This record gives sequence, C-alpha cells and structure tokens, in this order.
Amino acid sequence: MSKSSNRKFSPRYVPTRTFTHPVMGRVDCYNLAREPICDGSGAQAMFYDNNARPNRKREYGIKLFNTASEAFAAYQRQKIAADAGLAPPVRRMVCFVAPGLRYLPSADRWVRVPQKVRWGYQTSLAYGIGKLEVGMAAEEMQEPDFIPESGVRNLYRAILRLSTKGTQSDFKRLGTPRRANVRMSNDLHQENLGFWRKRPVVIDFGSHLVGEVA
Ligand SMILES: Nc1ncnc2c1ncn2[C@@H]1O[C@H](COP(=O)(O)OP(=O)(O)OP(=O)(O)O)[C@@H](O)[C@H]1O
Ligand SMILES: [Mg+2]
Repeated sequence: MSKSSNRKFSPRYVPTRTFTHPVMGRVDCYNLAREPICDGSGAQAMFYDNNARPNRKREYGIKLFNTASEAFAAYQRQKIAADAGLAPPVRRMVCFVAPGLRYLPSADRWVRVPQKVRWGYQTSLAYGIGKLEVGMAAEEMQEPDFIPESGVRNLYRAILRLSTKGTQSDFKRLGTPRRANVRMSNDLHQENLGFWRKRPVVIDFGSHLVGEVA
C-alpha cells in the first residue's frame, strides 16, 4: 500500500456545532469568515471536495444549495440510491453560514451580506466523472435498452425502479413530502455520472433528476 493511501482525512471545513433538526435530522453547522471557493458547480449546486479522496466512505465533500428544501430533497434521493448501490454514500445534512450575495427583491439587486445561510449535505467522492452517459433517447422514453454500455444500462434500469414517494418536495416548504413517485430519470449527462469503486453511479441528485426546475 502506498504512503498516500494511509494519509488521514483532514477536512478543509470543520463544523462548529451539530444539532438535531425536526425534519432533517442531524445537521453539521459551519461558520466561515470568508466565502468558500467551490471545486465544481452546475446549475443548482456548489461542490467542495473538502480534501476528501474518491472511493472513501469515511471521507466526504460538501454540496451546497440555495434552500434547505432543495438540499434535503437531493440528500434523500441520494441516500435512497446509495443504499441501492447506485450513488456514493451520504453522511449528514449541513448548514453553512458565510459571507455571500443575497438578492433583495424590494430593491431588485444583489447585496453582499456577512452571514448568508446555505444548506447542503456531505457526500463521498466519485471518480471518473464525464465518461459515461444515459443519453437523450433513453431518457426521453425512460428506456434502459437504448443505452449501449451495460454498466450504465443496469444503473439506469435500477434507479428507475426506486421510489421518491414521501421524500421532500424540492420547491415546497421544508417538511412537505411528495405524494407521487416521480422517477429519477432525467439530466443524466456525462458530468452527472461517475464511478464508485468500479461501478457506474449517479452523482447529481438535484431537482433536474426528477424533471423539476427552480
Ligand atoms: N459525489 C461527487 N464526487 C465527485 N465530484 C462531485 C460529486 N458531486 C458533484 N461533484 C462535482 O461537482 C459538479 C457539480 O455537482 P452537481 O452535478 O451535483 O451540481 P448541479 O448544479 O446540480 O449540476 P447540473 O448543472 O448538472 O444541474 C459535478 O459535475 C462534479 O464535477
Ligand atoms: Mg450536475
């Protein structure tokens, strides 16, 4: 075994306290003096690798969203998928308090505030992102047989079978569950798939996965 593989996990961000939220369960809180610089971002989430290494269950990066509902909905979906071996494992929900920009509707402009609150969760890191995809044809028909690569085909077939019924609604008040089972079937382009311990997995559990846009 190489030396680096024995290195201890030294997270870039360390929580200042942990509390139990009635809906979200254990939440790690982080207080930052500066706005964190992310290591990857897309339309909805900001990703911080937090010095974690891929494929390590006990090491975790952090994914942040604008609202607690969006964060908790994504967390619950990833947990369901991870338990089925279709996503990297998740740990806890998090709350980040740091300087940032806030939109003032009354003035129709963005202002810099010292304490902006953002919500998210801890996730282990996948690797090999950007090499696999489900593809438009398969997504449009929700048809795994349209996927040529067998690993991705099996992943898509398995994730379509999972239910999101009862999980948080992305754009409703925290604690509002989905009444229908909306399938995790969309937005599975190259940047949203990777590998966990040699198996193809989904890494983006944001609202696009269930066909919802903010
Ligand atoms: N579990 C993970 N392991 C490694 N890298 C990750 C992980 N999750 C996210 N990333 C990185 O962060 C980027 C953004 O994360 P994610 O895809 O979840 O955000 P998004 O805003 O919802 O993206 P999109 O534009 O697809 O809607 C990913 O493309 C990837 O590079
Ligand atoms: Mg993405």
